Amino acid sequence: MEIKDRVFIVTGASSGIGLATAITLSDRGAKVALLARSTHALKELAHKLPGSLPLTVDMTQFDQLREAVGAVRQHYGRIDGLVNNAGRSYAAAIEEIEPAVFDEIFHLNVLGPIVAMQAVIPLMRAQGGGSIVNINSGTAFMTVPQYSVYSSSKRALLGFSLTARAELEKDRIVVSEIYPFITATNFGKNRMGNPAGGGPAAHYAEGDKPEFVAGLVLQAVQEGQAQYFANDRLRKMAGVGA
Ligand SMILES: NC(=O)c1ccc[n+]([C@@H]2O[C@H](COP(=O)([O-])OP(=O)(O)OC[C@H]3O[C@@H](n4cnc5c(N)ncnc54)[C@H](OP(=O)(O)O)[C@@H]3O)[C@@H](O)[C@H]2O)c1
Repeated sequence: MEIKDRVFIVTGASSGIGLATAITLSDRGAKVALLARSTHALKELAHKLPGSLPLTVDMTQFDQLREAVGAVRQHYGRIDGLVNNAGRSYAAAIEEIEPAVFDEIFHLNVLGPIVAMQAVIPLMRAQGGGSIVNINSGTAFMTVPQYSVYSSSKRALLGFSLTARAELEKDRIVVSEIYPFITATNFGKNRMGNPAGGGPAAHYAEGDKPEFVAGLVLQAVQEGQAQYFANDRLRKMAGVGA
């Protein structure tokens, strides 16, 4: 899909991969609706991105999310792209998993993206098509002690994304997924659960740049393949083109 003059929603636009994606899309002439909870950060970003729209939303509050999508539609009159990026991780051994935190992670990482897709699909269908890009994770293909909730949420997102792709093909709505590897953002700092955590957190500072992942999002919007991997190691783990 073309990017110039198209309207995109980017969730989790206040930080990291979402921030880099919003800037990348705007630099290529898109109008970007910026969704996250941090009102101040979104307003500052909106000053820098011409024609953008900051909207404070907690993605786990589905009425807020639906309302925000409605506001984007009302503001721009159309929605061409959705980048489901907002997400958090949770470090806890199986025996320590708290059901309430499990729920929060699955609401944010799985149900939020589904509700956002449900909110944009009818409009995209009526417009003759659109692009949905879901930010997944390399952990969807890994077993990482302490990260069962996070990796399971991303495995679930994988299933929903591939199914949505198959269901929506007939409507020219293209669903793609990005699998970042360790990326240098605030993700490690923002995780819930055990502060020691283990896993890949120690390597965040040396990870890929968020702009690299934003480049994969751009590629996904333009080409529309099902899956984009940050590196060949992940591609092999996924059993794609190994
Ligand atoms: N960094 C990595 O190594 C890595 C690797 C693989 C996959 N990923 C995936 O990449 C995506 C982006 O993560 P990141 O690395 O950019 O982390 P980040 O810097 O922590 O950014 C996370 C974004 O999600 C938003 N968010 C969190 N909870 C939210 C909520 N309840 N409602 C609305 N927005 C919420 C945050 O904004 P507010 O706090 O303002 O709400 C922020 O904009 C996630 O889906 C993550 O799973 C990251």
